[in-house]
Amino acid sequence: MPFKTIIEPFRIKEVEPISVTTEENRKVYLREAHYNPFMLKSEHVLIDFLTDSGTSAMSSKQWAAMMEADEAYAGSRSWLKMEAVIKDLTGYEHILPTHQGRAAERILYGYLGGKGKVFISNTHFDTTRANIEFSGAEAIDIPVEESNHPMLDLPFKGNMDVNELERLIKRHGPENIGGVILTVTNNSGGGQPVSMANAKDIKTICNKYKVNYFLDCCRIAENAYFINHREAGYENKTYKQIAQEMFSLADGCVMSAKKDGLVNMGGFLAVKDKALSDACTNLLIITEGFATYGGLSGRSMEAMAVGLQEVFEPDYLKYRIRSTAYLGEKLYKMGIPLIYPIGGHAVYIDAKAFYPQIPVNEYPGQALVCELYLKGGIRSVEIGSVMFGKYDDSGKLIPAPNELVRLAIPRRVYTQSHIEYVIEVFELILEGKEKVKGLRITEEPEFLRHFTAKFERL
Ligand code: F0G
Repeated sequence: MPFKTIIEPFRIKEVEPISVTTEENRKVYLREAHYNPFMLKSEHVLIDFLTDSGTSAMSSKQWAAMMEADEAYAGSRSWLKMEAVIKDLTGYEHILPTHQGRAAERILYGYLGGKGKVFISNTHFDTTRANIEFSGAEAIDIPVEESNHPMLDLPFKGNMDVNELERLIKRHGPENIGGVILTVTNNSGGGQPVSMANAKDIKTICNKYKVNYFLDCCRIAENAYFINHREAGYENKTYKQIAQEMFSLADGCVMSAKKDGLVNMGGFLAVKDKALSDACTNLLIITEGFATYGGLSGRSMEAMAVGLQEVFEPDYLKYRIRSTAYLGEKLYKMGIPLIYPIGGHAVYIDAKAFYPQIPVNEYPGQALVCELYLKGGIRSVEIGSVMFGKYDDSGKLIPAPNELVRLAIPRRVYTQSHIEYVIEVFELILEGKEKVKGLRITEEPEFLRHFTAKFERL
């Protein structure tokens, strides 16, 4: 008989205490952090949903592999192991290790980018956009129209608008397209999956115009789970086979292994083309390290080699996707506006709908982030106009399309009772929500301002 409760498919062998704080303590900590949770000390956080990146608990097999690591500068055994795992998974010939995803982005998009170049994506993640813009190129997001309707229950709201893709390639000229980047799952678009049909349509267009096609594949195992469960023809394929098919469509990929690589640090760049690989390898050696470690220790490469295999285990993926959905569906039933259906790695709350009294230039998402921390010690992140807002020439805010708050769930870290606690905190937040006010930015940097901006309460 099928049971309702999805259990964590692991036993806990080692524990890390979390320090319990009171609302009084947290008021002080939040003020000291200038109302920006990136500036909080993690020991002042009870439940850390800031990111699912680099926060996974590693398995006993990963720790065991780390003990076997070969720390040689060149040609290390650990590198060869990791390279073989990535080649088998992606099918790409040329693998470049990097210390994390954005290092791979900087190398690839820095090389293909520059002034006059255009990159097109379902949605560029913030570091992806920043690396592209830093090179002087332009980054254009073209998610499908249904992604603008948070509550619309559709299976693949992470897809790219392929008609718009063709229009943009024609308008800018294929020779000016630095690359088309398919982000799976679409993190900034709510952690929503991308269908294989969409990935295939993009390939057809990229082939027609001979433009580069890359996957930003940091959550490709989670994406494969959704394809298996939602797309006809994939029910009998394994998660790994589904991922392999998706890789086969593109010319290369960039991966932050800190997500579906189940490691605390690591990433890679992989491409089919030798000339592109050679050019990127030059840049890799200048800034990341020699081509057989790229900024990673042998230990980290061992952990990644194991993690990239474990992440496709059916029991793990079922637990992963269902436990994220469990939190989201409970909040949905409480009437909290959120992106539905629930994505793979996170629950995204629609803060604009939750706090209708707060205008976008007073950052409703940041207000909810602060409330979650104050009331429950929960750290989350705003994905809205703090992260993606820009200014026009007169200094007026051009808001982001959505004002979201992301509760990103670290892999294999929190238990069901942690999640039940989070649900209770939301009950408390619902009670006083009409009285909550917005914030004002008092200091901000030029790029990626959400990391270090300072705020003041209104
Ligand atoms: N691409 C996507 C889709 C990401 O989500 C991230 C990181 C990166 C690239 C960059 O990878 O951090 O290893 O340099 N996302 C994290 C997050 C930070 O919280 O979503 P990185």
